[in-house]
Amino acid sequence: MSVILSVHGLRFAYPRGPEALRGVDLEIRAGEVFAVIGPNGAGKTTLFRVLTMFYRPSAGEVEYRFRTASDGSELGLRRRMAMVFQDPVLLNASVWENVAYGLFLREPLPGRLRVRLGHLARRLRLAVPPSKLEARVERALEEVGLSGFAGKHARALSRGEAQRVALARALAVEPELLLLDEPTANLDPPNVLLIEEVIRRANRRGATVLLASHNIGQVRRLADRAALLVEGRIVESGPVEELFRAPGSGSIREFVGEELLT
Ligand SMILES: Nc1ncnc2c1ncn2[C@@H]1O[C@H](COP(=O)(O)OP(=O)(O)OP(=O)(O)O)[C@@H](O)[C@H]1O
Ligand SMILES: [Mg+2]
Repeated sequence: MSVILSVHGLRFAYPRGPEALRGVDLEIRAGEVFAVIGPNGAGKTTLFRVLTMFYRPSAGEVEYRFRTASDGSELGLRRRMAMVFQDPVLLNASVWENVAYGLFLREPLPGRLRVRLGHLARRLRLAVPPSKLEARVERALEEVGLSGFAGKHARALSRGEAQRVALARALAVEPELLLLDEPTANLDPPNVLLIEEVIRRANRRGATVLLASHNIGQVRRLADRAALLVEGRIVESGPVEELFRAPGSGSIREFVGEELLT
């Protein structure tokens, strides 16, 4: 299987903060669901932010090998990824605008359209949307089970609905690599299952998924392989069924808890 993301000796320190990543090595294969598990503060979110180029690493390298041709520029690479944040922030606008926004930022739309949309988006009034945007937004909302919600205001959403809008925004750009940082934290079981099904479908359609999760059940349901991150280092990794097979080794056993290893 080809490798889509290859990470070597990645280090990152926050200014005046701790060194959050202390030499991370990872290989993510095209088409897989890869889970990063680990205790609070282990560096999962930091890792995702470095991989999506929000932060520049202080050492090490990330090699992106996306399928579709890219000019290799930072923007070209960023366009192939979408991330759903641990605490997704929605724009103070309608559901439709929130989903369209991600697309609008990435799609190489014709110049005039781009300028016009830019102007409107700044004012959060994407009132008369072009049909291409319309179709993709509609599809993404359908995907997360929120078809009727386009005109609703983002502030009027439940937590679960807001999370699904954030997921729709990421899916609408049809990313090759989808990074999901705790996508179901604090959601009720029906929402968890719904979101897991959306992730599964996106993966089947070809998206490689990188998932940070504390939910071991979820990791076992969704992921092909997983890595345990502790204090900025990967201490164990492998296929999920091997990693969680009893008796398990020291670190996994400690993190997961004995009763979850079967
Ligand atoms: N903006 C920041 N400034 C300084 N330090 C930070 C910042 N964000 C995170 N850290 C620190 O970096 C380390 C890694 O944090 P990170 O958020 O990546 O962990 P995490 O694995 O995502 O944790 P959680 O499971 O709680 O989401 C922690 O020690 C944290 O305190
Ligand atoms: Mg985090």
